[in-house]
Amino acid sequence: MNRKSVSFAVLSGKGGVGKSNLALNICCGLHLRGRKVLLIDCDMGLANMDVLLGIAPEKHMQDILINNQDPADILLPFGAGGRPGLDLLPANSGMADFVDLDAGARSMLRDKLNPLAAEYDFVCMDIGAGISPTVLNFASMTTLRLVVITPEPTSLTDSYALMKVLSARYDVTDFHIIVNMAESQAEAKRTFNRLAAVCKRFLGFAPSFLCEVRADRGLTEAVRKQRPLMELAPRSPASQDCMTAAEKLEQLRSALPAGEALGAPLRNVSAVD
Ligand SMILES: Nc1ncnc2c1ncn2[C@@H]1O[C@H](COP(=O)(O)OP(=O)(O)O)[C@@H](O)[C@H]1O
Ligand SMILES: [Mg+2]
Repeated sequence: MNRKSVSFAVLSGKGGVGKSNLALNICCGLHLRGRKVLLIDCDMGLANMDVLLGIAPEKHMQDILINNQDPADILLPFGAGGRPGLDLLPANSGMADFVDLDAGARSMLRDKLNPLAAEYDFVCMDIGAGISPTVLNFASMTTLRLVVITPEPTSLTDSYALMKVLSARYDVTDFHIIVNMAESQAEAKRTFNRLAAVCKRFLGFAPSFLCEVRADRGLTEAVRKQRPLMELAPRSPASQDCMTAAEKLEQLRSALPAGEALGAPLRNVSAVD
């Protein structure tokens, strides 16, 4: 069945800002809201969604490219209590050859993923940090882009660089910012405003604010227990904030026209590979 399938990339300039955990818990939030959700681990170098879920997949994303595996055969359901409609496409970590996929491999991956993506309401791509061609290419394929930042100055400069490169090379200028681990709502707003002002001044566009996610010790615990926080403690601060992100994504989805979940990159990356 073809659904209105909306994809979103979870991005950051700098690693370790919370992308994978937020991607996971936002997907759980969308699932709790009754949506069918596919989570794709696109961090081809340092994949770890399987670790966050305490599972040991036998097949991975990379098998689509190496062994011509059907993506549907790699899927692992992870809905709480076995509830269907929440699936992971895991990736293998530490495979350096896959960090920078060539243009042919990326378009093959997109063509193979699209029929599967069409079965879901939301497709979330957890993408590696930085500005490698593979990161940029994945980031330009999705319907929406969420950029995770923290109040650290290095997070701000690196996410600015990411948005700058994406806008210059791919004409992508729509970004939704999640401020993670701010000490207060005021600090979250200040952090966002600082980034938005620099983007507006030097890039000519301003990202929009999606939500903040509070620092939550429960999240660290959930990582240790290898279960999603949304499942262990759905009322905890970070879970509530990820639920807010899920609600915002629902609003964005309802305003979008139907279309392919993963589009072709707006500009051909081979020229800048
Ligand atoms: N909101 C939060 N509250 C507490 N700890 C967090 C939060 N977000 C991220 N972390 C911590 O940061 C670590 C790195 O998060 P992760 O999702 O793996 O980052 P990334 O995918 O961006 O590299 C987590 O293991 C967790 O300990
Ligand atoms: Mg990660």
